[in-house]
Amino acid sequence: MKQNKKNLWRGRLSKELKLKTAQFISSLKEDERIVEIDIDVVQAHNLMLYKQEIITRDELAKILAGLEQTRTDWETGELQLDPQQIDIHPIVEKHVIDLYGVEIGGMTHCGKSRNDQVICDVLIYLRTENLKISRQLIDMIDVFLKVASSHTDTVMPGYTHTQHAQSTTIAHYLLSYVDVFLRDLDRLSQLYVRFNKNPLGACAFGGTTFDIDREYTARLLGFEGIIENTIDVVSNRDFAIEYASALAIIAASLSKIADDLVLWSTYEFGMIELPDDLTDTSSAMPQKKNPCPIEMVRGKAGSVFANLNNLLIMLKGIPTGYNKDLQETKPPLWQAIDTVGSCIYIIASAIGGLKVNKDRMLELSCKNHITAIDLAEYFVMHSGVSFRQAHFLVGRLVQTAILQKKELGQLSAEEVGDIAKEVMGCEIKFDAAGYKEATDPKSSITRRDAIGGPAPVEVMRMLADRQAQLGGLKKQLVQRKDKLAAANEFFRQQVEAYRLK
Ligand code: ARG
Repeated sequence: MKQNKKNLWRGRLSKELKLKTAQFISSLKEDERIVEIDIDVVQAHNLMLYKQEIITRDELAKILAGLEQTRTDWETGELQLDPQQIDIHPIVEKHVIDLYGVEIGGMTHCGKSRNDQVICDVLIYLRTENLKISRQLIDMIDVFLKVASSHTDTVMPGYTHTQHAQSTTIAHYLLSYVDVFLRDLDRLSQLYVRFNKNPLGACAFGGTTFDIDREYTARLLGFEGIIENTIDVVSNRDFAIEYASALAIIAASLSKIADDLVLWSTYEFGMIELPDDLTDTSSAMPQKKNPCPIEMVRGKAGSVFANLNNLLIMLKGIPTGYNKDLQETKPPLWQAIDTVGSCIYIIASAIGGLKVNKDRMLELSCKNHITAIDLAEYFVMHSGVSFRQAHFLVGRLVQTAILQKKELGQLSAEEVGDIAKEVMGCEIKFDAAGYKEATDPKSSITRRDAIGGPAPVEVMRMLADRQAQLGGLKKQLVQRKDKLAAANEFFRQQVEAYRLK
């Protein structure tokens, strides 16, 4: 065939794209991450084409060798991404054509289209990133559990409405986020299963007349199952929305932790100190120790939500089928992946290097009537009043304590008895020692020992349980990696067996 040095992809058109237009519609920048995956996908597809007798053994041998050469040229920097090309797929195909001629290289695209190919690349990339983020989350949970285990007795004030609520411990606080991140891991794990499926072979929209074997490319590429409906493959990006949602949820939690850390490290709270290597100073004010990286975790959560929003908005306004708009799936996804990866790193480092000011935390936990609810519960259990009556009585006791500039626990038994009589209209029985104990923040923690409470014994049970859960997840991760490695080994063997040497 006469090639005339013509652009073989544009027989229908008599003019080339202007460079500016090509760059406008190009995804080359985002495609840099998937170049090697794209080469794998084309190799797998061509192994299948040969198995199905669609291409000859000689064609396969040269195609595989050409693709291996493309890989090497990419690794060594020999393969430049021609800016006149609009994405990676024709660049890979053209490289094989340049090496072995259009009769050979021109066969690689039988029975596939860029529409299914790009989804295949992206799903493989996401699969790897899913495992990476999961590993990062697991490592971060390890840090949280380790720090928690040395703080089961470290009392701290807990807040609702940013006002003193009930006392708790650092361990109880950290474990609350361990549970959040375990759910994030579960979400990522479900995503892994849902989308580790082969889209390749859907072709442009409605399949192909070639007798392809989609099960075989699934096997070669380590997929477990097939995304069957060809229209579904090329039209939908729900996987991207779901993945970005999972990332946005992680970012939201990290942002909340960041907010706590920023607040607690202020002079006013003084509950913690951040490691120096996670803080910055001021160019003007020499005394400053600013929690900049932590603040950025909070700030960047907004960008991740914007990434998710970006996907939702792009996807809602297009008709069924492949539309070029769908190319805009990649930038926000890539950005969300990168951002959340860095945010996990920062928060894991902050918690790992946290200096806790135990005295200050205890001091704050003894102030501001933080055990008021314990006292109300004490009256219900020991004085025969209903919770609502006890709540009202303690409210009045708090009012009195505030007027007298005292803490609840500092009111005398007589004062309490008088106020109780006034409020209830009769005397109530309570003993001074019980009253004291009920208003002590430390013993309050020990007594809140029902499932999920802050009592050290319960927190230690949760620690052990979460440790075990994490162990299971670590195993699952290793199994998934092993499975992918085994599939890849089989795939590489096939490439080696058939490629021209
Ligand atoms: N670069 C494209 C993307 O990322 C690949 C698919 C192009 N398909 C097409 N029909 N123009 O979506």
